[in-house]
Amino acid sequence: MDSQKTLSPHILIFPLPLQGPVNCMLKLAELLCLADFHVTFLNTDHVQHRLLRYTDVQSRFTRYPKFRFQAIGDGLSEDHPRSGDLFTEMVDGMEAVTYPNFTEMVTSGNLSSKSEQPVTCIIADGLFSFAGGVAQQIGIPLIYFETISPCGLWIHLCVPKLIEAGELPFKGDDLDARITCVPGMEGFLRRRDLSSFCRSCDPTDPLIKLILKENQELQKAQGVIINTFEELEGPLLSHMRSLCPNLYAIGPLHTHHRARLGTSHATFSNSLWEEDKSCLAWLDAQPLKSVIFVSIGSLAVMTKDQLLEFWHGLVNSGKLFLWVRQHGSIAGDITESQIPVELLEGTRKRGCIVGWAPQEEVLANPAIGGFLTHSGWNSTLENIVAGVPMACWPYFVDQQVNSRFVGEVWKLGLDMKDTCDRVIVEKMIKELMEERKDEFMGRANQMSKLARKSVSEGGSSFCNLDRLMEDIRVMSL
Ligand code: UDX
Repeated sequence: MDSQKTLSPHILIFPLPLQGPVNCMLKLAELLCLADFHVTFLNTDHVQHRLLRYTDVQSRFTRYPKFRFQAIGDGLSEDHPRSGDLFTEMVDGMEAVTYPNFTEMVTSGNLSSKSEQPVTCIIADGLFSFAGGVAQQIGIPLIYFETISPCGLWIHLCVPKLIEAGELPFKGDDLDARITCVPGMEGFLRRRDLSSFCRSCDPTDPLIKLILKENQELQKAQGVIINTFEELEGPLLSHMRSLCPNLYAIGPLHTHHRARLGTSHATFSNSLWEEDKSCLAWLDAQPLKSVIFVSIGSLAVMTKDQLLEFWHGLVNSGKLFLWVRQHGSIAGDITESQIPVELLEGTRKRGCIVGWAPQEEVLANPAIGGFLTHSGWNSTLENIVAGVPMACWPYFVDQQVNSRFVGEVWKLGLDMKDTCDRVIVEKMIKELMEERKDEFMGRANQMSKLARKSVSEGGSSFCNLDRLMEDIRVMSL
C-alpha cells in the first residue's frame, strides 16, 4: 500500500470570515481532531488576529498535534468594518485577492509539512464557490459547509425556480403576498420572509449573483454539511436531498461539540471580540427567568432611531434586560445628551449593557427568560438548545425566514420583522415573558430536548457526524 495512504486524512477547513461561521467550523475542526484527522484551519488574517487576541484557541488546540492554523489575506484594510452593507465589499475583496492566493496555496502543496500528507479533502463555506475549481484541479473531494439555516438555504436553492415562475422580482409592493413555489413552505411563506436581497431582485445585485453561483457549485460537491438536526427540519431536508443528495445534518454543533468533548459550555470561546464576563455576575443576581437578553449578532447594524425605539420598548416593558451593543452595531455615534433621561434612568435600575457577551453562557443562565435576537442561525440554534423563547428582529439573508420559522412553524416565539417601534417592542416582550410565557416555554423545552437527543450517542446528528467522518476517510484513500 502507498505509505501516504496509511496517514490520517488531511482536511483543509476554510470558513467565511464572520463570527458565526468561524465559531461553528472551529467546533467541527475540534471534533475531527478528536477522531485523529489532520486539520488545517484557514482564517483570513483579520479573523486570525482577533481570534488569537481574544481567545485561548492557540493553547487549546496544542493538545492536537495534527491541527494547525494558517492565515490568508482578504484584500481589505484592517479597520474595514466588514459588516452591514459593507459585507459585499468583503465578498468582493475575497474574490479578487483571496481566491488566487487560495488556489496557489492549495495547488502548490505548500500547506503540508513533511510529516503529513497533502490536503485530501476541503471543507469550505458554501459561499466560496471558487473552492470547487481548486479541489477539482488537484483531484480531491470538496464538501461545503452551509452555515446559514437550512430553511434559508432551501429558499436560495429555489431562487432560479422563483424567477422562472415569475414570483421574483415581485410584481407590486404587497410584501404579505404568498410565495407558492418553494416546496415545503407553501401556505406560510410571504414575500417579506425571503432574504432581503429578493426585495430588489436586481440581477446585478452582488448577493443574487453570489447565490446563483453558490447553487450551481453546491450541487457539484461531494457533500454538504448543515448545522441543524433532522428532528427540527426533517421534511425540508428531504426536499433539499433532491438537489444535494449527500447532506450531513450534524448540529446543533455547539452542543454536539460539548457532548463529544464531555465539557461544559463555560470552557470555550471562539469570540472575535473581547467578552465582557461581568454580565454573568449581574445575571446571577437576578430572579429566575426575569431577564430579556438582547443581541443582534456580529453583522447587523441598527440606526440611531431604531436604537432609541428598542431602548424605549425595553425600558417601558418594565423587564430586566441584558443588551449586547457591539461596537459597529449602531450606525453613527450617539452622545449621552441625545439619550432621553428616562432611558438612562431605566437602564440604571434594570439594565446591563455590554460590548460583547459570552452568549452561550448567557443563554444557559437561569435568569434568562427571553431573547430579542436578529435570528442569525447560530444564535437561533444556541437558543433552541437553551430552551428560551425568542422575539425576532431579522436584519438580512436567512434571518428573514428564520424568524418566520420561529413564529409560524416551530412556535418558539414572535416575529417582529419590518417593524421597529417602541410600542411593538414593549408588547412583544410582555407577550413573550408574561402573557404567553407558558406556551412558549413548553415548546422551547420540548425542542431543546430533541436537540440534545440528536447529538447524544445513537442520535441523528451523532450518526450523521460518524457517517461524515467515515465518508471522508473513504474519499481520502
Ligand atoms: C451570520 C449571519 O448574520 C446569519 O444570518 C447567518 O445565519 C450566519 O452568519 P452572525 O450575525 O454572526 O451570522 O449571527 P449568528 O449566526 O447568530 O452568530 C453570532 C455568533 O456570535 C453566535 O455564535 C453567538 O454565540 C456569538 N455571540 C454573539 C457572542 O459570542 N457574543 C455576543 O455578544 C453575541
